[in-house]
Order: sequence, then structure tokens, then C-alpha cells
Amino acid sequence: METGLLHLHNVLRWVVMLLLLLSIFQAFTKKESIRSTSLFLMIAAHTMLLIGLYQIIGGRYAWGNVPAEVSVMKDKFYRFYLVEHPLLMILAVTCITWARSKAKNLSYKPVSYALVASLLMILAAMPWPFREVIGRPWFPGM
Ligand code: HEM
Repeated sequence: METGLLHLHNVLRWVVMLLLLLSIFQAFTKKESIRSTSLFLMIAAHTMLLIGLYQIIGGRYAWGNVPAEVSVMKDKFYRFYLVEHPLLMILAVTCITWARSKAKNLSYKPVSYALVASLLMILAAMPWPFREVIGRPWFPGM
């Protein structure tokens, strides 16, 4: 099950990225369809959040599984997966949720600011394959 969830966490990020880019476009061009897109975006982002929370609580690199000799904040790998990635992603999901509440009333300006902020955070906290030590594949099983 754990591998399946990790694969889902990997592939769902493309859904989040696509919906996020589409929502940003709709917010800037003031399209009413942002109402439904932002809802799907929020659902996808919250699913990522749930899988992510499971991973830091019960996954292979969960807080409880850190080897005794490792100091999380001094270890690039553990610091990324247990602190930087979760914190920035939780903030990004919070921005997406807030943007969704504003999108309901078609307040385009705050929606665009919040979504661009969340995109920047997601881009910064993503374990891109070219990042040393923490890099992961573009797609599951690659
Ligand atoms: C939109 C939000 C998020 C995106 C786009 C995202 C993206 C990713 C990606 C692409 C991976 C690598 C998957 C792989 O190795 O195939 C990953 C791993 C991981 N993510 Fe996230 N993530 C998000 C949110 C979160 C949150 C909120 C948490 C924790 C609360 C989290 C915790 C983790 C952990 C612990 C791993 C490593 C799991 C392992 O290798 O066993 N993620 N994430």
C-alpha cells in the first residue's frame, strides 16, 4: 500500500500543477469557470496533503523511523522530506484553500495572488529529479 500511495503522491502532483496553472490563467483572464477549477484543485491538493501527512507519520522516512544517529536538521535528506517539503507544501495548500474561498465570489485579484504564491512554493519544495540528494523521478517507477 505504501508504494501505491507514494506513486499516487508522485503522479497527482501533475494534476495539481495542471489545475493550478489553469486556475492562474482563469484568474488573470477573469473567467467564471475558475469556480469549478479551483474546487477540483482544492480537492487534489487536499488529497496530496493527506497522503503527505501519512508519509511523515507512517511512511518509510516517517519521523518515528529516523535512525538514532541522524540529526534531522543537519541531514539534507531528512531535513528536506520531514521539514522543508511538508512545511512549504502545507503553506501552498493553505493558499490554494484560501484562493478557493475567494474564487467562489469571483474575487479575481486575491485569487491570482494566492495561486501564484502557492505555485512558487510548490516549485521550490518539489523534489525535482535534477536536485542533488533529494531528487525523485518525473513519474512513478522511472
Ligand atoms: C501539493 C503538495 C505536494 C506535492 C506537489 C508533493 C510532491 C511530492 C513528490 C513529487 C514526491 C516524490 C514522490 C516519489 O518519490 O515518487 C514527494 C514525496 C514526499 N512528500 Fe510530498 N508533495 C506535496 C505535499 C506533501 C505534504 C503536505 C507532505 C507532508 C505533510 C508531504 C510529504 C512527503 C514525503 C514524506 C515524501 C517522501 C516519501 C517517501 O519517499 O517515502 N508532501 N512529494
